Amino acid sequence: MKPRRLLVTSALPYANGAIHIGHLVEYLQTDFWVRFQKMRGHKCVYVCADDTHGTPIMIRARQEGITPEELIARSYESHVRDFSDFEIAFDNYYSTHSPENRAFCEAIYARMVESNSLTTRMLPQLYCEHDRMFLPDRFVKGTCPKCQAAEQYGDSCDRCAATYSPSDLADAHCAICGRKPVLRESEHIFFELELYREYLREWLPEHTARDVSNKLMEWFGEPLRAWDISRDAPYFGFEIPGHPGKFFYVWVDAPIGYMASLKNWCDRHGESFEGWWNDPGTEIYHFIGKDIVRFHCLFWPAMLHCGGFDGPDQVFVHGFLTVNGEKMSKSKGTFISARTYLDHLEPLYLRFYYACKLNATTDDIDLNLDDFVGRVNSDLVGKITNLASRGAQMLHKNLEGRTGTMDAEGRALYETACARSAEIADYYERRDFSQAMVAIRELAEEANRYFDAQAPWKLIRQDPEATRSVLTSLLNSFRVLAIYLKPFLPGYTAQVEKLFGEEPYNWDDTAKPFENRTLNPYTYLATRIDPKKVQAMVEASRTAAPAAAKPAAAPVTPVKPEIDIATFGQMDLRVAHVVKAELVEGADKLLRLELDIGEERPRQVFAGIRKAYDPATLVGRHVVMVANLAPRKMRFGLSEGMVLAACNPDGGLFVVSPDDGALPGATVQ
Ligand code: 2FM
Ligand code: ZN
Repeated sequence: MKPRRLLVTSALPYANGAIHIGHLVEYLQTDFWVRFQKMRGHKCVYVCADDTHGTPIMIRARQEGITPEELIARSYESHVRDFSDFEIAFDNYYSTHSPENRAFCEAIYARMVESNSLTTRMLPQLYCEHDRMFLPDRFVKGTCPKCQAAEQYGDSCDRCAATYSPSDLADAHCAICGRKPVLRESEHIFFELELYREYLREWLPEHTARDVSNKLMEWFGEPLRAWDISRDAPYFGFEIPGHPGKFFYVWVDAPIGYMASLKNWCDRHGESFEGWWNDPGTEIYHFIGKDIVRFHCLFWPAMLHCGGFDGPDQVFVHGFLTVNGEKMSKSKGTFISARTYLDHLEPLYLRFYYACKLNATTDDIDLNLDDFVGRVNSDLVGKITNLASRGAQMLHKNLEGRTGTMDAEGRALYETACARSAEIADYYERRDFSQAMVAIRELAEEANRYFDAQAPWKLIRQDPEATRSVLTSLLNSFRVLAIYLKPFLPGYTAQVEKLFGEEPYNWDDTAKPFENRTLNPYTYLATRIDPKKVQAMVEASRTAAPAAAKPAAAPVTPVKPEIDIATFGQMDLRVAHVVKAELVEGADKLLRLELDIGEERPRQVFAGIRKAYDPATLVGRHVVMVANLAPRKMRFGLSEGMVLAACNPDGGLFVVSPDDGALPGATVQ
């Protein structure tokens, strides 16, 4: 077989959230396929990167009081660690915020200009005057115009699934500050997709699965709508050459990130980017979820074609993950981050389970937690691993760990396993991983039947050499299964390679029987899952801080430990009358307040609310103060308490006041 050259990608995860078990469906699916291709002797490069640009990342960084660069650096580290702990082996994991990516974006943009593929026009959009920015649909919230559900996003309703534009919301408000936005016009740059109609019409059916391309062909009934590729400042991304204050929309530079990551890999390995991407001998495959098909199967091939680059050979589309038959849910504890999973369970189990469930369709896959425990324990541990643990341990205990030759029946068992190599390889090639697992399980069941029928634990008393043959046959069959499982369970098979003292297995190593050689000591391969650990993982996910920042996420509040009522009762909260309020020289965040709580003299408090209040507006107001806070000596004087204020995620501050009628000194409880 002539070695192929494959370039494989998974979708780039956003840099503002943690990797979770839903993401892992795709990264594991791709990793299985890539590892299989490599085992077959093909040259295969698997690239990915963090998707770092856009409004949510900019806002998230702002909320955390850090720069977007700091945020994406932090995400990068945690993503890389999660992927590596799940044995997902990228050849290159890069970032869209990179010089290579900027260069490719600018080059493709230049081709868009040269080929007259761009137009500009004024576009009205909601603008928040307080945050001084245009609001993407997901940053506008309000009441659904169709079903009247409150607090829906600006593009669609979670309750009735209606889609609309943000200005249709009944009481549209900015998801960051809550204020009412205004409609404002600005110039946008559009990529005229209609110019690529004929190209795409031919491209689609050949490069995507039939259901995917049929769905997309529905768009061709009318002219293809031009795609808005620009966003106005403030925006974290790449500025568009010749258009100060305008940036490439994140969905322009995200897929270009595949090229940037490949280029970075090429430069580090002395390879030529052109020789990879644009060589007709290279096969390019994108693995994506069904939610981002439009970007990968319409805009992306058109952009590549316009830029003079080859389009992907195939876009492989998978479905979503459900857990226990439902959408992942934070309150049910089924929104499980990769890290929370790893804190409780071994990655091996999830790799095994996803392999059992995955196929090449866009159907959703379900992680049923009881089934997960059941399958791992009965199939991976009970049927497969037990062959090795029982066989190897018995051989060491009774027969110096040395294999002999297989008996006739055992050799037939081994040969049956070898004979399914092409069939199983075909399942892998077609991404029908669940079928590969069915075949592996059938072979394991046959080996178990052989083991039980031969009963080597009895045979050893009468005929040690016959027992050696039985165990040799059993271990050879197991070895074949471990080779077939290697793309799914690389760490597991690495242990098997050590057990047999062999070089890393390739696909064809099944055909080399292991006879008349000594086995290394058996070391741990896999143990049963304790269901209590799964429960603990679910519990931890229920109480964990949010794994991913949504645009309109609640304030990033540190999680504080629970307290009892007695602890709360120790706080002396009082209504205070603001007698005096003034600026503090040399302190640009503080105001000096004098607060009357019915004591002999007013208390002096330095409050960090200067950016939100003109001191004159505070005088005469009633506020709430912590009266028994230990006095704090500050550079400007003694602070004898604290004023309560609400802090919005965007840093907005609002002093807390009681309703009219509360008297100075009244307790607050
Ligand atoms: O949907 C997402 O999570 C995007 N970050 C995927 C980008 S894939 C590619 F285009 F970069
Ligand atoms: Zn706002």
